[in-house]
Amino acid sequence: MFNFNYYTPTQVVFGRDTELEAGRLVKKYGGTSVLVHYGGRSAKRSGLIDRVKKALEDEGIQYCELGGVVPNPHLGKVREGVELAKANGVDFILAVGGGSVIDSSKAIAYALADLDHDVWELFAHTRSAVGCLPVGSVLTIAAAGSEMSASCVITNEETGEKRAYDDDIVRPKFAIMNPALTVTLPDYQTQAGCTDIMMHTMERYFNQGGTLELTDEIAEGLLRTVMKYAKILHEDPSNYDARAEIMWAGSLAHNDLTGCGAASGGDWTSHMLEHEMGGMFDVTHGAGLAAIWPSWARYVYKDCMDRFVQFAVNVMGVDVGGRTPEGICEAGIAAMENFYRSIGMPTNMKELGIEPTDEQIRAMAAGAARACGGSRGTAKLLFEEDFVKIYENAR
Ligand code: NZQ
Ligand code: ZN
Repeated sequence: MFNFNYYTPTQVVFGRDTELEAGRLVKKYGGTSVLVHYGGRSAKRSGLIDRVKKALEDEGIQYCELGGVVPNPHLGKVREGVELAKANGVDFILAVGGGSVIDSSKAIAYALADLDHDVWELFAHTRSAVGCLPVGSVLTIAAAGSEMSASCVITNEETGEKRAYDDDIVRPKFAIMNPALTVTLPDYQTQAGCTDIMMHTMERYFNQGGTLELTDEIAEGLLRTVMKYAKILHEDPSNYDARAEIMWAGSLAHNDLTGCGAASGGDWTSHMLEHEMGGMFDVTHGAGLAAIWPSWARYVYKDCMDRFVQFAVNVMGVDVGGRTPEGICEAGIAAMENFYRSIGMPTNMKELGIEPTDEQIRAMAAGAARACGGSRGTAKLLFEEDFVKIYENAR
């Protein structure tokens, strides 16, 4: 087991009607003037925004509001939020939505703590954050795990760059998680969310670590649970217990629990390659991951055979009888593809709905190489030329 630092300070308030506690929680964490930040339509249409505002009013907390965050959230909206927050003396950001809204909120929180510098410099990795306003969330989709994570992913819509910045200081103060809020999700978003949740654990799972028995048991149990309930939700989207299992899995998959002791915190190549696809083609994050993972897995498994065998047997239920280790790995990857298909997810870029040209593939590979400083991967260390081949094999 490698050394690790596990820091998960977010208070989780889970269950039905928990959004009514938003005011009490903001007050507990020192908020007196709040920016209520949300997305395009869903939270407004369902009446959730009104309930959250009422909860703030009941505690005598002032607020201003800004909607319109899009999936793969834009830097321009972050800048708009900063101006509004400055004008209103905001001291707390309350995200009501999914990963995109939470990340937009985190970026606003970073910007407000350092008005002398451009916040994009964090995402360009030319400087580190010096501070951050407190952020809390009312989660409406189980997927990105941003409600407990140290990550923030923003797209610069002018350059087409989608970039992540990670820092423990941005981990939200609280996460309100009412699984009932997620029943209005279209099935595609539910399943893209389940895929992203699994990928957050799989990115950490495929590494060259030694004994990780407890971490592996947690990771494998989480993956099997998400697969089970993703299929149930595909047939029965209003099943509360299934929504609850998936929502809790989403937070545990990305609060670092399933990577404790893994080398370098995990592999993360599939995420990096998907972020380039998101920046160039604005695809749904989880679906983009499903489209790139099989190509990545086939490219690297021979260098990470023990883990791929373990995954095939313990997670995908592959019968080892008569198979070579390579055969077991390939059967595990094929079983994961079949699972993706069974929940309506793509297994390559064409099924995702994009057909990048050779030039676009080279541009995405170059962008990925810039984002990671040249190389990435713990399952197998990969370079720009490898990124090109993985994209080509994912067509
Ligand atoms: O804008 P509205 O109308 O709310 O529609 C949203 C959006 O279209 C809709 N939605 C959300 N809750 C709903 C709902 N529709 C009906 N009922 C509800 N209850 O779902 C769509 C997707 O929302 P989004 O917030 O984009 O989803 P997700 O949580 O998957 O977030 C994706 C973003 O997070 C980033 C991704 O790259 C992407 O930009 N990630 C953030 C991470 C982090 N900060 O830790 C880690 C992840 O790996 C990921 O990269
Ligand atoms: Zn993700």
